[in-house]
Amino acid sequence: MSPTQPSRRQAVTTVGALGLGVVGAASACGSGEASTAASQAVDQASSAVAGAGSQAASVAAQAIAKADIPVGGGRIIDALKVVITQPTEGDYKAFTSICPHQGCPVTSVEGGTINCPCHGSKFDISTGEVKAGPAKEGLAKKSISVSADGISLS
Ligand code: FES
Repeated sequence: MSPTQPSRRQAVTTVGALGLGVVGAASACGSGEASTAASQAVDQASSAVAGAGSQAASVAAQAIAKADIPVGGGRIIDALKVVITQPTEGDYKAFTSICPHQGCPVTSVEGGTINCPCHGSKFDISTGEVKAGPAKEGLAKKSISVSADGISLS
């Protein structure tokens, strides 16, 4: 093995830490090729993880236009796992978009509630509190700042 390639153990450990399913391929063969394949998978996974992080960071850095949040409704921003609502004109709220019941992402804001498609829980757009179960807890609030430029997570 060349000194620039990670050892098989390093590659398998790193891949395992990233949650990828190539461990079997690397350990089944035991050749240098398997080690190289695992190393390439690690490089690709690292790039994917870094890309996902920077995408969310760039969305977070951009202010969300106030005009995109309807009065009496809201908007789900999947990249940030957040729901921003505007219960009354000029009053913006933010909540996690992950349902506390079993972790599904909420998918709509309609009829004054934020709605989870998995089992039908509904949450108040003003407070995040449960309006209809089976969820027992409301959506956790997120901190935002509102300026002339728009709405940003803070
Ligand atoms: S996960 Fe949302 S209602 Fe069950």
